[in-house]
Formats: sequence, structure tokens, C-alpha cells
Amino acid sequence: MLNFNFDNFYTQKCANGNSPEEIKASLNKAQTAFDQVKSNLPGFVQLLEDLSYVNDIQRWVETRVKGQYDHFVVLGIGGSALGNIALQKSLKPINWNRMTKSQRNELPTIDVWDNVDPDFVQSNLEVIDPSRTLFNVISKSGTTAEAMSNYLIVRQILLDKGLSPKDHFVFTTDPEKGVLNQIIDQDGIQKFTIPPTVGGRFSVLTPVGLISAAAAGIDIQQLVKGAAECKQQLLESSIEENPAAMIALHHMLFEEKGMTINVMFSYSNALFYWADWFRQIWAESLGKAKDNDGNEINYGLTPVKAIGPTDQHSQVQLYNDGPNDKVITFLKVNQFNHKMTIPYLHTDIEALSYLGEKSLNQLIDAEQLATAYAVKNHGRPNMSVEFPQIDAQHVGEFIFVYELATTLLGYMMNINPFDQPGVEDGKVYTYGLMGRKGFEDKKKEIEGN
Ligand code: PA5
Repeated sequence: MLNFNFDNFYTQKCANGNSPEEIKASLNKAQTAFDQVKSNLPGFVQLLEDLSYVNDIQRWVETRVKGQYDHFVVLGIGGSALGNIALQKSLKPINWNRMTKSQRNELPTIDVWDNVDPDFVQSNLEVIDPSRTLFNVISKSGTTAEAMSNYLIVRQILLDKGLSPKDHFVFTTDPEKGVLNQIIDQDGIQKFTIPPTVGGRFSVLTPVGLISAAAAGIDIQQLVKGAAECKQQLLESSIEENPAAMIALHHMLFEEKGMTINVMFSYSNALFYWADWFRQIWAESLGKAKDNDGNEINYGLTPVKAIGPTDQHSQVQLYNDGPNDKVITFLKVNQFNHKMTIPYLHTDIEALSYLGEKSLNQLIDAEQLATAYAVKNHGRPNMSVEFPQIDAQHVGEFIFVYELATTLLGYMMNINPFDQPGVEDGKVYTYGLMGRKGFEDKKKEIEGN
């Protein structure tokens, strides 16, 4: 299991922490939110009640992808991309795409095209052979301009090469809604569905994240098992024993004290992309203009990502001495996959020789501990999430804890964590500017301003 250490969130250790009395006074609020979750399980929790969909994905990938394509490319954005990237970065070697096919055990390279920067798309196109590529178009709505534009570009390339879309696309979308379903019916493209009750940023454990993960040989059974076992345990635990509830509760109290910036500080390159995923789920779910009763609240916590020790040389000066508006969560790994010993050289130069025969593992651990201690001494509350090692099971657990923590904090603040009205606004103005029928007024509105 992951270890969640909240010690530096409390006044006993950190001057600006939360006192046990403050936590106690808010337990009822957390309990009410928790009861709300339990009495009406949100889609991402319900998903884990029947795991047969994972076998279906696994079987399909083994028969239809493995050994048949050299490249696998995800075309999606936001919740339809960030989890995929984080899974690849955390559970596959960093240099996966640079390995030979036999080193990859006949599995494809994996890329996620989650932007429409033309230089980014062009350079990604240059490193794949479309005739040897399976493209996974992921869009729950099937209307997102970025994912759809990249789909259209790829489709034209396939058609120009006389390749059949059916052989090179797999679509992941809503069971019924959206234009992708129309194309599926026309072209007989393989389809995987996203349960309608699971929103984009909560969908990494649906086919959204699992197909590309399985295509890269990630153990998706273990991944989902990690989340499902965590779900079982958390739903049966008390608030005080429930890390998701404690994360929500502490961050709610810190927000009330003006600490509204939440840094996820990963002391692992592999885990760093989960800070990116966290950025989306935390920002989009909790940043809301109105509460459920229509009151103007403009609530939100600003998530920030950092990587250690690298960002000790970039961000920590600000964290220690700048405005006291940050709460830090360290991600740390107890056992890395490799151990690297630092050679004992320059024995006469003390500034170097003290490092000799220590390991990089010791160094990164010491730096994390030292930074947590220093920021705490500067009155900056911090917690840590310790991974015994980075594997599918622990990553699954991490995903579930943060999905639940986000939901609980939303419920505690009487806001809907599952909608994103602010994102929709930008989408419709883009449709207007790009000449989509029915959105002419949006174009006029922008041009008139
Ligand atoms: O969390 C969300 O709902 C969003 O970030 C979506 O995932 C994102 O806008 C992409 O939407 P879609 O999957 O419909 O293309």
C-alpha cells in the first residue's frame, strides 16, 4: 500500500499547519461528503464494481495490436490524454520509444498527440510510418476541435496512401452520442466505450487510458486491481483513516487560511506526469464560479507541478521565502528499479569525496527529506505520498485516492466536481472563430470586442 504521511500538515510540526482541534471540528463536514459518495457512488467508483471490461481490452490488444503495428498513437486531449501519458511515463522505461522492436518485445512505440501545435504534429508524424500505425482517437464528446482536427489530418494521410481507416483507427467514445459513432457505423471501426457517468478527467481507468497502456504491455489487470482494492478499503474506513478524506479536509482548511496553491512535488521522473494529471483533476473539478445552490463563490485551488531535486534549484527559494500560500505534496519512491553508486574519486577533495560510495538513491532520498524539513521549518505545510515501488498496483491506488479526494473536497464545498462550464465557454468561441455552423454569434461577439 502507499504510505500517506500527514505529520507536517499539523501544528505540532509546522507553525502554519492545521491543529488537531481544527481537523476535529471539520470531521462532520467530511463525513457528510463521504456519506454522499457512499449513498450515490460516482461513475469512477461504480466502474470498479465489475472488472470484466479489463479482460476484454486485454484480449483485444493481444489479438489485434501486439506484433501487428510498430506504432500506437493516441489522438485526444485533457482527460482523454493526460492519464495515458502518465501511465506510459510511470510504468514503461523512459526510453521506450527509442528501444528496438525486439527490445520492446514486439510491442509498438507509444505517442500521445494532445495538442494542435502544427510543429508538434508535424514532427510526431515524421517519426512514424502511418502504414504501420494504429491511431486511437479518444473523445468522449466526439466534438473536441483538437482531437478531431488531428483525426482528420491522419485520416487524409491514410486515404492518400490507399490505407483503410478500419485497419488503422480504434475509437474510444461515448456509447451513443457524438459524431465518432456515426463514423464507426459507416466504416466499421473498432469501438471502445466510456461509461457516460465517468467524466473525462476521471476516466483513466476506462478504455480511455487502458488501451494504450495494454498496447505498451502495462499490466492493466494489476493497475485496476490496485484501484479496486483501494476503493474497497477506503469505502469501509473512517474519515481519520481515509487518506483521500484527510487530503480533502486538510486542503479545505488550508484554503480557508489563504494557502490556495497546491504543489505536487515529485522526487521521481517516472511519477512526475501524475502531477500533470493531478493538475487537471484538481483544477477543473474544483475551480468553480458557483456552488450547487447558485451562490457566486469563485472557489478553486491552484495546482502546480514540480520535480525534485531539479526544482530545488528553481522553485524552493520561492516556496520557503515567498508568500505563504502553498501546500506541498511530495511524491517519493522507497525502492527505485535501479541502484546507482557514486564512484569514490577525488579522495583529496572533501567537497566531492563525501559523495563517494553513496548511491543516487540515498542522495535523492536525503534531498527530499531535507527539503520537506526545510519548507516545514519555514512554516510551509507539506505531506508525502510514499510509493514502496513504482508498479501498476500502486499507481492504480494513487489514481483512486486522488479521484476520491477531489470528489470529497468538491462535495465538502457544495460544488459539482464533475462539470466544467468554464471549459465549454472556450470551446464554443473556438467553434465560432473556426466557422462552425450554429456558432456564428460567438465569432461576432469576439470580433466586436
Ligand atoms: O475532464 C474533462 O471532461 C475534459 O478535460 C475533457 O477530457 C477534454 O475536454 C476532452 O474532451 P473529449 O474527451 O470530449 O474530447
